Amino acid sequence: MRHFESLHQFSVNEITDLLQLADKLKSGYRPLMGQTFAVNLFFEPSTRTKSSFVMAEHKLGMEVLDFQAETSSVKKGETLYDTAKTMEAIGANMLVIRHADDNWMEELSGRLTIPVINAGSGKTEHPTQGLLDLLTIYQEFGTFRGLKIAICGDIIHSRVAHSNAQALKRMGATVYLCAAPGFEDDSLPYPYITIDEAVDECDVIMLLRIQHERHEGHWHIAYYLQDFGMTKDRESRMKNHAIIMHPAPVNRGVEIDSDLVECKRSRIFKQMENGVYARMAIITKMMEEWGMYHAPAFKKYQITANKGTVANM
Ligand code: CP
Repeated sequence: MRHFESLHQFSVNEITDLLQLADKLKSGYRPLMGQTFAVNLFFEPSTRTKSSFVMAEHKLGMEVLDFQAETSSVKKGETLYDTAKTMEAIGANMLVIRHADDNWMEELSGRLTIPVINAGSGKTEHPTQGLLDLLTIYQEFGTFRGLKIAICGDIIHSRVAHSNAQALKRMGATVYLCAAPGFEDDSLPYPYITIDEAVDECDVIMLLRIQHERHEGHWHIAYYLQDFGMTKDRESRMKNHAIIMHPAPVNRGVEIDSDLVECKRSRIFKQMENGVYARMAIITKMMEEWGMYHAPAFKKYQITANKGTVANM
């Protein structure tokens, strides 16, 4: 049985199925069969991911157990495994976990009898963000083939960059990276270009948050927007059809001029909206794989794209 650890573990066809299901769920959904309980174990702060998982769980008719790491026995030294195993023992049917450890899944590997969804693992993976980002791009362009996508910012500390780069490449896009000195990650095999080259050439500019909490010492941001960020001048030079994305939270005036956060090209809040449906699709798939969802819902679906259809892939 699979947990939802990484987009790497899913084939292109499986990712396409998830995108189609997420898109279908936007226009209608049915609750899971029977009574199911979800627990969201967040050991790092979150606004979007946790709230959209709760929304997705409620829309699917799941009961959601409350868990706050700060007031739990984690404060007494309880391990992640013991917390997760406790939730399994009291009747949870699914766990959603975010943790600062890059490899926290290894601690749970093969030791639980319920599905686990990775809602963020240190600097390494944020696969549910990856799926909602793919959904946003696919709704916009109807395909990944032929798209030039630049992932720009704090690459080395970004779990979003690590999840998205490989998935976008496998789906057929050409991926570029763009980073200030010290933010590069040589382990990612994609060419680096400047922010100005990205603005001139790319169909999607995917900005990343500077991960202040993962930097050692103080990082000076005074000139970041002008030298590496999305200024109004750069936005005005983008291709007519090109879009701006950012997983958020946004450091306004750092990665992007504050006035551009809701500009015509920005898909930042669209990404958040898509997060609910991408997570509903992931939960549905996990529950199906683990035998907890037997309804033959949504066998036929077609993505709603501005241009083209899934048949283009
Ligand atoms: N994009 C994202 O993961 O946001 P949160 O940290 O608010 O969940």
